[in-house]
Amino acid sequence: MSDRLTSIFSALGVTDPGAGVSGSAGEGPAIASHDPTTGALLGTVRTASRAEYDRVALEAQCAFVRFRMVPAPVRGQLVRRLGELIREHKEPLGELISLEVGKIRSEGLGEVQEMIDICEFAVGLSRQLHGLTIASERSRHRMMEQWHPLGPIGVVTAFNFPMAVWAWNAALAAVCGDPVIWKPSPHAPLCAVAVQALAERAMKETGQPGVFHLTCGGAEPGVWMAEDRRLPLLSFTGSSQVGRDVAAKVGARLGRSLLELGGNNAIIVLDDADLALAVRAITFGAVGTAGQRCTTTRRLFVTPGIQAALLEKLTQAYQSVKIGDPLEAGVLMGPLVTEHAVKRFEETVAHAVAQGGAVLTGGKRLARPGHFVEPTLILAKDHPTFSCAHEETFAPILYVFPVAGVEEAIAQQNAVTQGLSSAIFTGGLRAAERFLSPEGSDCGIANVNLGTSGAEIGGAFGGEKDTGGGRESGSDAWKTYMRRQTSTVNYGTDLPLAQGVEFL
Ligand code: UN1
Repeated sequence: MSDRLTSIFSALGVTDPGAGVSGSAGEGPAIASHDPTTGALLGTVRTASRAEYDRVALEAQCAFVRFRMVPAPVRGQLVRRLGELIREHKEPLGELISLEVGKIRSEGLGEVQEMIDICEFAVGLSRQLHGLTIASERSRHRMMEQWHPLGPIGVVTAFNFPMAVWAWNAALAAVCGDPVIWKPSPHAPLCAVAVQALAERAMKETGQPGVFHLTCGGAEPGVWMAEDRRLPLLSFTGSSQVGRDVAAKVGARLGRSLLELGGNNAIIVLDDADLALAVRAITFGAVGTAGQRCTTTRRLFVTPGIQAALLEKLTQAYQSVKIGDPLEAGVLMGPLVTEHAVKRFEETVAHAVAQGGAVLTGGKRLARPGHFVEPTLILAKDHPTFSCAHEETFAPILYVFPVAGVEEAIAQQNAVTQGLSSAIFTGGLRAAERFLSPEGSDCGIANVNLGTSGAEIGGAFGGEKDTGGGRESGSDAWKTYMRRQTSTVNYGTDLPLAQGVEFL
């Protein structure tokens, strides 16, 4: 292990960075984690055997029986401590994200900030798991709705937010009374080990054992969770293709799944847009995180009056982006996560060109070690038949489609199978409101004069269609982690039946 990594783990108080299974040796095959910036081996992490997974699931099940009766505000104290520990260790956590998945420093730190934010949100929520009182049609009856803990839940996360996606789920689940079993991406197991170490400290210090569990592995622990009736909810972040299998497996046992799947997000820029604002938002949305967010901007619809100026400015912005070691000052774009991702980038660019697309800038991998590519802008052809723009390629490729006006732009934006995030740039009230109306964007996120990525944790996060329909993070996303119970209490001496039914 490199000196840098050793000092990160020692700052985090992690004594065994290979400990990929909480409370257990890790008898499954070890996973190797590589630095995408250099290709060097960072370390190996041990994974869960089936027997170990079963032990963890049983522990989570037993912990639930106790934890569900801990008052929610007391459960909140566990999350508060977790949030404090994450805040205290923000720097090493952020740096570890940069090392293992290649995010630039500011984005690595931003991801850690998202974890702190969701912990704070969840602590407040722990005193606000409100139910309703509903008017009963019967005399001296009170009808109400209350929310109870659901049970132990599974959380399967992707490499691109190797810590925060767990936190969005885990912080809410914990205040809702649900223990969590985490299966992180095999591309980012070290991030998971680091976070788990802090979670274990928080559990110990607050006297709440058995709430947060880790089972590293390849696809297998995810499949075990999907089929495991002990887990009433499985939260899965990943591709639409794998999400379909997960949903089928969870659905076959009538479990609940929370799916955060692929996006194919678009920005519409109309003639009356603020050009400078649009250029910054598009560049961050399409190039930020090297195009590896599910909210990354992948398609651009532009009206004729602004097209030339926008493409000129965008090309300049793209060419000014410094690419390199994500921890180096001034670098705005790090590497892709794997060599496989670089291959997909190259194939997709070739496919786009074969379909008649013109590369305005970028298009190539960089001749240096690591998985570096250029941010790529492609002037595309007819949207309905330009098939590569209908798929999510996890790389910084942005397709530009000229459109006549807002109506055509919205229709084309919606004409893909995914439905996560979307944005429009316009100074006009009519176009903006139309975009947000029922005949506007069909996505879970729709923004005006800001980009598609970088959502705050306070809103519900997720999307429609092949994005999976799940919502996590803010607003009332917590309800997915609880079960709803409708209760009616008769405090009278009579037994009136609903709907006026007479009996006995
Ligand atoms: C993801 O890429 O899986 O809105 C999530 C954003 C981040 C979350 C991205 N807050 O870009």
